[in-house]
Amino acid sequence: MECRSFCLLKMSQPIVVSSPGKLILGGEHAVVYGKRALVTSIGLRLYMQLIVNAEKMNQQSIDIHFQDTNRKETIDIELVNESYPIEIQAIVFIYKHFQINRSAQLTIRSDIPIGAGLGSSAAFSVCLVGCFYLWQNEKIDPDEINQLAYQVECLFHGTPSGIDNTISTYGQSLVYSRQLRQHMEFHLKNLAIIDTGIPKSTKRMVELVRLFVEANRDEAEAILNEIEKCVETMIAHPEEMKDTFRRNQDLLKQLGVSNDAIDHILAKLTEQNLSGKITGAGGGGCLIALIDSLTKEQVLEILKGNSIKEIYFVECGVEGLRQEETFP
Ligand code: MEV
Repeated sequence: MECRSFCLLKMSQPIVVSSPGKLILGGEHAVVYGKRALVTSIGLRLYMQLIVNAEKMNQQSIDIHFQDTNRKETIDIELVNESYPIEIQAIVFIYKHFQINRSAQLTIRSDIPIGAGLGSSAAFSVCLVGCFYLWQNEKIDPDEINQLAYQVECLFHGTPSGIDNTISTYGQSLVYSRQLRQHMEFHLKNLAIIDTGIPKSTKRMVELVRLFVEANRDEAEAILNEIEKCVETMIAHPEEMKDTFRRNQDLLKQLGVSNDAIDHILAKLTEQNLSGKITGAGGGGCLIALIDSLTKEQVLEILKGNSIKEIYFVECGVEGLRQEETFP
């Protein structure tokens, strides 16, 4: 009896979690093929709040509120099928996984720009699992949450490497491969994120690379090995980062994930003896750049006339998934 009243009380309390976005410094795409990549979490977070209705048993519905766009939906769990948006399918997948038979409210807010290569979908997946996990468990178990968040990421991206959910769960900076998760201390000065504002699809870019790899086995293997060498150089010789960014970018271009708009932005940076590369899937989204001691305004001036939506300076190597006191 005592346990029952405790459980009911717990269920009706809001559960709030947050997890960070990420920057892949080197090794994106190659990491899908088992190579090592270097990734860091960033000080932009996604927040999620779950309230499970303690009273209404056997009502399988969720009220979802995406605060950034003020999109509100009420979902009847039994009616959701493959025609629904992936994020709704993901929520239902996790709701069913945890065998919840009550109505719930989910509120989501993201400081991470959506679909820009900064890991917004992974932070969504990790927070989603984190919320429901905490509904049934006393505290966060990162290993269990990360494994399940990977399954959610598969709904979004097909067969991802797992790098995005892993960094969002554990935070800090990591050398990551499908076999390895090695914590790293990493400090890069003067790193800017340049959001091109060009829409991109990670799933499509990963598929594009897969077609290239299947059609050009030997050439692709050589490129992927060279990308991994860039990652090794980034770790062993951070002082050579500008050159290493350029080399990694050149290899990403050979894989087919750059485009004219990105090439043009990066050429402008090179003209000024600065250096940049794609971060994440490519095809649009965000670039990263080493901009010496230039200000945002000076970089914008250099890139005038190019497709630039925003330039961010962010803290790197931040905390991973965590429980929050309140929803901000
Ligand atoms: C996406 O953030 C990184 C890619 O390497 C895909 C993946 O690792 O799953 C492009």
